[in-house]
Amino acid sequence: MFITLEGSEGCGKTTQSQALANFLKGQGYEVILTREPGGTAIGEQIRAILANRQNTAIQLRTELLLFQASRAQLVEEVIRPHLGRNGVVVCDRYADSTLAYQGYGYRLIPMEQVRALVEFATGGLQPHLTLLLDLDVEIGLRRRARGGQVNRLDTYELDFYQRVRQGYLEMARQQPERWVIVNAAASFDEVQTTLRRIVLDRLAGA
Ligand code: TYD
Repeated sequence: MFITLEGSEGCGKTTQSQALANFLKGQGYEVILTREPGGTAIGEQIRAILANRQNTAIQLRTELLLFQASRAQLVEEVIRPHLGRNGVVVCDRYADSTLAYQGYGYRLIPMEQVRALVEFATGGLQPHLTLLLDLDVEIGLRRRARGGQVNRLDTYELDFYQRVRQGYLEMARQQPERWVIVNAAASFDEVQTTLRRIVLDRLAGA
């Protein structure tokens, strides 16, 4: 089963996905926890380019393609092989991040083109389950501000993040069989309990 976690800044995706992966391992599942951009040696090098604050000259198309390059590597090197072994893959961001950020967020590249690139990068591989950690944007940015280091990808405007959030909610409405929206304003433990319940239900085929 291929599970992704999505959401905008400060929603707690990263710590939640770690806790979820550990829980599933404890339940006896073969779990790989990975992240985007990154997750492979090549992908982590691409991530460093994307995050580097000196790369102010980076073009929108370049950025879009770098995210897809990292993703293509992750799909072939990690995700598909593990799914082939009937394992569980938990991924902190995946293709929907591109649709939300480069598509809904920027609104500069036509959505069909963004979708076509994502399709190319993933070979059409879609998650079985996408957990959207939905959170008010301003709360998220305040939470993130307490988190420390800021990289190049952390420096968009408030409006941008509002569009990202709305984009996610729209995608969730369009594909309700894949997406589950979770209120990320709840406490860490409440969110984690909800995520575990949703995932166990799916794994049990409920
Ligand atoms: P990261 O440091 O992983 O932060 P977060 O905890 O928010 O996931 O940074 C990833 C950043 O890259 C985040 O701002 C979202 C952005 N991103 C895209 O714009 N497009 C993509 O396809 C992906 C995977 C991430």
